[in-house]
Amino acid sequence: MCGIIGYTGKNDAKEIMLDALELLEYRGYDSAGIALLGEEGTRIYKRAGRVKDLRDLCAKEDPKGCCGIGHTRWATHGGVCDENAHPHRFGRITLIHNGIIENYRELTEKYGLEGKLASETDSEVVAAVLERFYDGDPYSAIRRTVLKLKGTFALAILFDDQPGKIFAVRNVSPIVAAATKDGAILSSDVAAIVPFTTDYFVMPEFHVVCLSADGIEMFDLSGDKAQIDWLKVDWDVSRSSKGGYPFFMEKEIMEQPQVIEETILPRIKDGKPDFSEEGIPDQILSDCKRICVIACGTAMHAGLVGKSLIQAMIGIHVDVVMASEFMYNDPIVDKETLVIAISQSGETIDTLEALKFARKCGSPSISIVNVKGASIARASEYVIYTNAGPEIAVASTKAYTTQLAVLYLITARMAMARGLWSEQELADYVKELSRVPRVMEEVLSQKEEIHRLAGTILNAKDVFMIGRGLDYSILLEGSLKLKEVSYIHSEAYASGELKHGTIALITEDTPVVAVVTQDKLKSKELSNIREVQSRGARVLLLIKENEVLEDDERFANVFRLPVMADAFMVMPASVVLQFIAYFVSLDKGLDVDKPRNLAKVVTVE
Ligand code: G6P
Repeated sequence: MCGIIGYTGKNDAKEIMLDALELLEYRGYDSAGIALLGEEGTRIYKRAGRVKDLRDLCAKEDPKGCCGIGHTRWATHGGVCDENAHPHRFGRITLIHNGIIENYRELTEKYGLEGKLASETDSEVVAAVLERFYDGDPYSAIRRTVLKLKGTFALAILFDDQPGKIFAVRNVSPIVAAATKDGAILSSDVAAIVPFTTDYFVMPEFHVVCLSADGIEMFDLSGDKAQIDWLKVDWDVSRSSKGGYPFFMEKEIMEQPQVIEETILPRIKDGKPDFSEEGIPDQILSDCKRICVIACGTAMHAGLVGKSLIQAMIGIHVDVVMASEFMYNDPIVDKETLVIAISQSGETIDTLEALKFARKCGSPSISIVNVKGASIARASEYVIYTNAGPEIAVASTKAYTTQLAVLYLITARMAMARGLWSEQELADYVKELSRVPRVMEEVLSQKEEIHRLAGTILNAKDVFMIGRGLDYSILLEGSLKLKEVSYIHSEAYASGELKHGTIALITEDTPVVAVVTQDKLKSKELSNIREVQSRGARVLLLIKENEVLEDDERFANVFRLPVMADAFMVMPASVVLQFIAYFVSLDKGLDVDKPRNLAKVVTVE
């Protein structure tokens, strides 16, 4: 969703912003634009399309200036066209906006803006209100405007008569800022800051920040100077490049053994899972009567695996709720419900809102987040960071498996806190978890074989993915991956449910991907596979390498998974499913990293 960049300093702001907008492309967008505040006044360049189109537009005039703001837009209010692209300008004000101004119609009416606006956006209305209140004091204009706004916003603002200065304010939608060697930078996203510095801060809500070549100042809405809480990024810049791979998705799939190790190892002390660095008291894990996982998309699928693990190993009830649906089902969360919010970006608005609601109900909370200092991390009582590094491909891979790694650790610590396992059981579990990176490497080394198997579904219109229990949870994610990057319609189906209708859709033209990794489910799953084979379906089977398949001539396409304890088979199987989706997309010639209409960070409801 909308990406924001602002730079002021001694260098060419245009080049810095265009490069940054390219780094922000992964968020998903349909238009891009920049505004430069220089000696020639404020100049705006914007258009629907890609950042490279914007680059071409700028190249024609090659505008100069050392202060500017830039934006990638993901349309919400108003169609995709040049006029609706940001920056928006009204009078002396030029701004970019991420979020939704819910009361923009009332503001349009109240300030008589009908017929005076150049776009259909809610954002331009904010520029007009700022212009109305601006009397030479930017802070006062921002303060007065913000008090009129309902909704979410991250705003970066230029005032024509404030050369070299960028002002910013936010509510919910994120902005991070940093000082560079010769100026200052702000962005919606740490990824755009990493090339400049490792020190940054997350702007607090309802504070006004002013960036200039001399540095950064921050004030609260009453005008008092506020203290900046600096953070450090631990991503190195190379993590934000493709490192020789054609797409980030492939690079990120390949990185999994390393990032899983980096997620697990610091949290195993004396052979035991340990969250002392995170300050998580055992009591929170031992006292809860139930768990409610809130998350969206891939993170929600990680939660489903967590549910299977915790229910099986700890014996307490776990609900996994799509955060976007959470509020509509009269959620029952209380002091005895441990809420676990899972989010790669830490900014998904539905997850954030659900978490805030749960906290109001008195629920203890832990978030599993990848981006340091993100809103969800700050809104929860405790946070466990997945050390996945920047995930750039829209389709999540390494974030998912590192989220799983954290859920395995939580399960074990919970068992410890409740005195459920013997020393030996705990040691065996930790040993198996520590094997995951090596086992994944084994799967990754068979990339070409997975590529060949992916070819068996390349031309399919529809694909079914079937399994039971944990296998079904893995397939929900595998199926989402395929849909996201290949645009093939795919459905993950609990194999026992097939007979209740959808088996009619299985024909010789519908490939079926089946995963069989759980001993206790194997015979039932194999029977279900026979049922679809009887309807002519070609089956691509993922099964442990030590399983003997009777009548194996029925299976032309089998991937043999390295053997782990059943609870951990999710890890090798997930890698295969990720690669299947990747290779299908690659062989279709699609833009694997930026599937159409999808956004990496979903900051609007
Ligand atoms: C978007 C992304 C998905 C992601 C989901 C949740 O839909 O395209 O890849 O799983 O948001 O994002 P989060 O950052 O909360 O994990």
